[in-house]
Amino acid sequence: MNILLLGSGGREHALAWKMLQSPKCDKLFVAPGNAGTDAIATNVNISPLDFEAVKQLAVEQAINMVVVGPEDPLVKGIYDYFKNDNELKHIPVIGPSQHGAQLEGSKEFAKKFLIKNNIPTAAYSSFSKETVEDGCRFLETLKAPYVLKADGLAAGKGVLILNDLAEAQQELRNMLVGAKFGQASAKVVIEEFLSGIELSCFVLTDGKSYKLLPMAKDYKRIGEGDTGLNTGGMGAVSPVPFADEVFLQKIEERIVKPTIQGLKNDNIEYKGFVFIGLIKVGDEPYVIEYNVRMGDPETEVVIPRLTSDLVELFEAVAEERLGDAVLETDERSATTVMVVSGGYPEDYEKGKAISGLADVEGSVVFHAGTKTENGNVVTSGGRVLAVTSYGDTWADAIKKSYQNIEKLHFDKMYYRKDIGFDL
Ligand code: AMP
Ligand code: GLY
Repeated sequence: MNILLLGSGGREHALAWKMLQSPKCDKLFVAPGNAGTDAIATNVNISPLDFEAVKQLAVEQAINMVVVGPEDPLVKGIYDYFKNDNELKHIPVIGPSQHGAQLEGSKEFAKKFLIKNNIPTAAYSSFSKETVEDGCRFLETLKAPYVLKADGLAAGKGVLILNDLAEAQQELRNMLVGAKFGQASAKVVIEEFLSGIELSCFVLTDGKSYKLLPMAKDYKRIGEGDTGLNTGGMGAVSPVPFADEVFLQKIEERIVKPTIQGLKNDNIEYKGFVFIGLIKVGDEPYVIEYNVRMGDPETEVVIPRLTSDLVELFEAVAEERLGDAVLETDERSATTVMVVSGGYPEDYEKGKAISGLADVEGSVVFHAGTKTENGNVVTSGGRVLAVTSYGDTWADAIKKSYQNIEKLHFDKMYYRKDIGFDL
């Protein structure tokens, strides 16, 4: 069949790499893609948010399935757009309906869903411009640190964690009254602070049943020892050594099952990935957030550990027979290290020539912010490459990633040398 994959990051290169291993995949189009997907599939330079252009491509290329990488088109309703269009409704979209995508698109929606379904999460209250002073008084009843979350999508920047009460109150006003994150902070969720170690749980669902994918842990801060600014993710490992059988059982029973049941109870159409951001407090799992897509760079370790045919799994999702499907995984560990542009996550330069890609041995390099220019691969984003390796342990795997990164070069290249330091 002909498949259209939307997105352009390391996640999409990993999904493309895996789908192309399926005998069921005839032609793969990626919109807009990057230099990595350009080398293995057909890139089409359209935005995943331009639904009219996506439609035209789907019709022209006789697309049989659409796989959505990032959250924005899902929150904007691409699933429903296909379902409600006569020329498109026969084409399954892997991703939730717009209603389901609210789990990521609105923090308040997600919190209400969690509480309603008795899923462990931080206590919270939400506030708007009209109730900003109530919010300031609510902060006085909490202990530091204070967690403020813009309700809507804010490109990963909408969560503030502050130690000082007056500063937290000022930031609450900035968000609600000053529109610090635009419409995304028209509502703000204030949450109890949870202290623990974070990990990511990935679920594939057809809305009725589900399959668990391997767990992963990502490293979000730019600096070694988890210091400095937040990024999209600087590296990841899978499996997660501290997530033992007993802990995994708690996650499945207390969090995954009630999540899928909650979707069913509310008649929320959901045929795609659920990414549950978790925190381990003592020995107990709590939900920090839902995302309605795969994580990046977690995908670059989770998908390589999948031994089953991903296209077959997606077909099972589309046809609501995931319950009968089998999802098998590779016993080995996988690690990935993100190679980024100097300056990221703040200002950085683009267009730097990347060398050494052909010298990599024993790792898979997934491209993120790259593009092809006159036949050369150059940087085009903050996160540039994800270097993924397998090993009998995560420590064996990470050694290979680092050995191969030494062969890569571009001007002002940076990466964290301590991925896995806390395991
Ligand atoms: P989110 O966008 O909801 O994932 O939040 C971004 C980051 O803020 C998370 O990855 C956590 O590190 C942190 N965070 C969010 N909520 C809490 C909380 N209630 N307690 C402690 N840390 C949190
Ligand atoms: N790596 C975290 C995310 O994809 O949101």
